[in-house]
Amino acid sequence: MTDRIPPSGLPLASHAPGKAILFGEHAVVFGKTAVVLALDMGTDLEISGLRGTGSGTYNGSERAARANPYLQTSLLAHPPPQPLDLRCRSQLPRASGLGSSAAFTAGLMTALLGMEGGAERTTLALESFRAERQAQGVGSPVDTSAAVAGGVLSVGARAPGDKLWELPAEDGRPAWHVARLPDPGWTWVVGFTGVPKDTATVVRRVGERVKAPDGPRLLEQIDSLALQGCDALRAGDRAAVGRLMNENQRQLVELGISHPRLDDLMRSVEKLAVGAKITGAGGGGSIIVLPCPGDELRVGQAISHAGGVPFVVKVAARGASVQPLTGGPQPPGTGGRRA
Ligand code: PMV
Repeated sequence: MTDRIPPSGLPLASHAPGKAILFGEHAVVFGKTAVVLALDMGTDLEISGLRGTGSGTYNGSERAARANPYLQTSLLAHPPPQPLDLRCRSQLPRASGLGSSAAFTAGLMTALLGMEGGAERTTLALESFRAERQAQGVGSPVDTSAAVAGGVLSVGARAPGDKLWELPAEDGRPAWHVARLPDPGWTWVVGFTGVPKDTATVVRRVGERVKAPDGPRLLEQIDSLALQGCDALRAGDRAAVGRLMNENQRQLVELGISHPRLDDLMRSVEKLAVGAKITGAGGGGSIIVLPCPGDELRVGQAISHAGGVPFVVKVAARGASVQPLTGGPQPPGTGGRRA
């Protein structure tokens, strides 16, 4: 990807999309393959400069600015020329598995690099990953890559597709490659349980789980399934993608990341879906559903009846962007719709 983040003065507006993981969450932390979709629902920031030497404000509050770890790690890495006033509007529920932290971090980092005179998108990918990882303590670059690149991506030590960038891993693990896959153009439905998940806790628990004798085998199986998923997406084979989602779901249950509310939502869409699975860390959070064609709204209603919050979504082709704010009303975000 050759496009650059343009230079931008203050005030400015930035946008970054959320994401849903289609295959390979958790295993990707160990360098296995994952497939992620950037979603047409995301986070909008409006940033202006403040006079003086304070630490800046987040939605009008200095305390909220100090308490936001993603804001703090980003500002530390790329200090702005003056304190900032940050206003955030997001369509992504927090701790839902839909990439709200990554969209916030990538949107903010786009703005900070824009203020520094611009940067390659590869640099934005690296800096967003570092800031999110530092704030979270664990994790892979799946979420931040989707927020930075948009579209459909594969991530992992092998990552089939058109190569975008490579990001370093720690502890002697292989680097993560990030590549672009084609978007088949389908409509998906996401169902949020309303139960916030804690990524770091679940990732650490899975780290313990895969130390069991069958752990390495399970990770290899998830990797092989995600690679088949890449082929199925490239072929635009909806039935194969759905079948692989269902298989991946069984693997995720074996990893121990389900939750009674996730099980409820999964049951509610069983008869209407080509495929369905947990998306993200699990232990709460969301499911992603590939509906039978034409059944998108019925899937949304089923999720709603089961007590979840449905979103009918498509893939967002564009990643994080920044533009100067010229005053007057801003166009609303590109809009995931509540079903
Ligand atoms: O934070 P979540 O729920 O979107 O989960 C991210 C996906 C994991 O594979 C569980 C962790 C990671 O950083 O890859």
